[in-house]
Formats: sequence, C-alpha cells, structure tokens
Amino acid sequence: MKTLVAQVDILETMTPTSFSSFRDRLETASGFQSVQFREIEFVLGYKRQSTLAYVKPDFPGYDRLQQLLRERTVVDHFYDFLAKRGAQIPADLKSRDISQPNGPNEQAQKEILRLYKSSPELSILFELMTDFDEGLQEWRYRHIKLVERTIGAKKGTGGSPGVPFLKESLFKPIFHDLWAIRHEM
Ligand code: HEM
Repeated sequence: MKTLVAQVDILETMTPTSFSSFRDRLETASGFQSVQFREIEFVLGYKRQSTLAYVKPDFPGYDRLQQLLRERTVVDHFYDFLAKRGAQIPADLKSRDISQPNGPNEQAQKEILRLYKSSPELSILFELMTDFDEGLQEWRYRHIKLVERTIGAKKGTGGSPGVPFLKESLFKPIFHDLWAIRHEM
C-alpha cells in the first residue's frame, strides 16, 4: 500500500494544462473501468451496487462483479475466524444480506476487544488489518488530491461529479469494528 500511495507523486508532476492537452482523447475512459479495483472493494466488504451503473454489461468482468455482490466478504470470513477463536458472533451478522456492505457491530466490537487483550497474536493480526485499511484510505486521499489539483471541479470522464463523488468513500473503513474500539484500549 505504501508503494502504491507513493506512486501518486509522479503523476502530480503533471500540470493541469498538460493533462488538459490530451484529456479529450480519453473520451469516457476512467478509473471506473477498473473492474479489479471494484473487485477488491466488493471482496473486502465495501459493496456499492450503484457503482455497477458505470460498468456496461458487455464489459469484461461485469459478470464477475455481479457474482461477487452475492458472495460473502473478507469481513464475513473474519467473523467466522473470530468465532473459531471463541468470540460470540451475533446470529444476525451470520445471516445478514450479503449483497449489502459490511458495517459496524457493537457485539462483535466487544468480542474483538476481549481478544485484543487476551490473545497477543491476534492483536498483531488486528493491527496489520488496520494498517491495510489505513493504507487504502491513504490511497483514496492521495488520488482525490491528485484529481483536485489536476482537474479541480470538472466532472470525471467516467460520468461522476468527480471530486465530490470520490470524497464519499474517503473515510469509509473496511474493518469498521477495528476502528470503533480504539478508545477503549
Ligand atoms: C490525473 C490523473 C487522474 C485523474 C484526473 C483522475 C480522475 C478520476 C475521477 C474524476 C474519478 C471519478 C470517476 C469518473 O467520473 O471518472 C476517478 C476514479 C478512479 N480513479 Fe482516477 N484519476 C487519475 C489517476 C488515477 C490513477 C493513476 C489511478 C490508478 C492507478 C486511478 C484510479 C481510479 C479508480 C480505481 C477510480 C474509481 C474510484 C472509486 O470508485 O472510488 N486514477 N479518477
């Protein structure tokens, strides 16, 4: 994640004028066409059906994204893992509508907090997961600033409002429960 985020520096050497000189050639091409990026979000648990409106049904990977919307996420598997380590995971989490994004859960937070204190090896895993989550948010922040300094308030070539759209995801964590308990440690 650190390497990915650092790469943004290079693109920031491009001025708005140089980007404008070829932007029209992109037509409607955009980061929205990155099926892999959306795949990562869906697999992790940040599912947004609305983003599929920007991917045409004949686009390679469309079916894969539709399928992922109906599959359990890393966060769902994380709950299974916690249950194996003795955590009481609420029944409504196990039977949740998996086409929806994962969200925070207070009971799961209590259990994670208990494991943080009782199992040092799990606390290392939780910290690494938090590192990853922070890294993804760092990438989002750097991408937004790159976009802001290069095209300002212009709309995206992919059809979104641009910066305001990207900001909607900026502080959205993947592992909600790991962030929610930090003041209790
Ligand atoms: C000057 C360079 C860039 C500009 C102006 C730019 C602009 C934008 C804009 C406006 C969007 C919103 C979608 C749209 O309406 O098109 C977007 C989305 C996206 N861009 Fe970029 N981008 C740039 C560079 C990059 C780079 C280098 C990457 C990846 C290596 C990237 C990956 C993405 C991804 C994955 C999305 C979807 C984000 C989401 O849905 O949350 N972009 N970009």
